[in-house]
Amino acid sequence: MQNILDNCEVVPMVNQIEFHPGYIQKDVVDFDKKHGIVVEAWSPLGRERVFKDKLLNKLAEKYGKSVAQICLAFSLQMDVVPLPKSSSVERMKQNMDIDFELEKEDFEKILNMEETGWSGLDPDKF
Ligand SMILES: NC(=O)c1ccc[n+]([C@@H]2O[C@H](COP(=O)([O-])OP(=O)(O)OC[C@H]3O[C@@H](n4cnc5c(N)ncnc54)[C@H](OP(=O)(O)O)[C@@H]3O)[C@@H](O)[C@H]2O)c1
Repeated sequence: MQNILDNCEVVPMVNQIEFHPGYIQKDVVDFDKKHGIVVEAWSPLGRERVFKDKLLNKLAEKYGKSVAQICLAFSLQMDVVPLPKSSSVERMKQNMDIDFELEKEDFEKILNMEETGWSGLDPDKF
């Protein structure tokens, strides 16, 4: 990855990557943070692919929040700026209302949860 920056005249300010529980691309996130690049998450909800996950549903119940809100809180606690999309005003409001933090233990459970894999979308072609 260092080679990428070697070829840049200016270090990028933002790197938009697919990021959601089960697909966090930690090596990219760590690299970006080290170089002062803001990481922005596309598909921060995993395009609903993670909504049925047992751990996330258990945490949603524990915190009295939706699974989407658990995903967004996790993203914010990783210092990754989430970019969720919704066609519903209610869900947009819900996605902006992240007024809680995951306890360290729960945060780490998501950090280490089983990989769900990527969406299959190629950012160069999307
Ligand atoms: N750079 C790239 O290559 C790239 C690739 C993909 C996407 N993106 C961008 O990233 C943004 C988001 O990506 P995305 O659409 O793939 O994923 P996303 O935001 O993770 O998921 C969107 C899906 O989640 C549902 N949803 C949203 N809020 C919800 C909530 N609170 N509860 C339950 N369901 C909820 C939406 O349905 P409803 O609409 O019915 O609420 C929609 O089906 C988009 O703006 C997109 O343009 C960029």
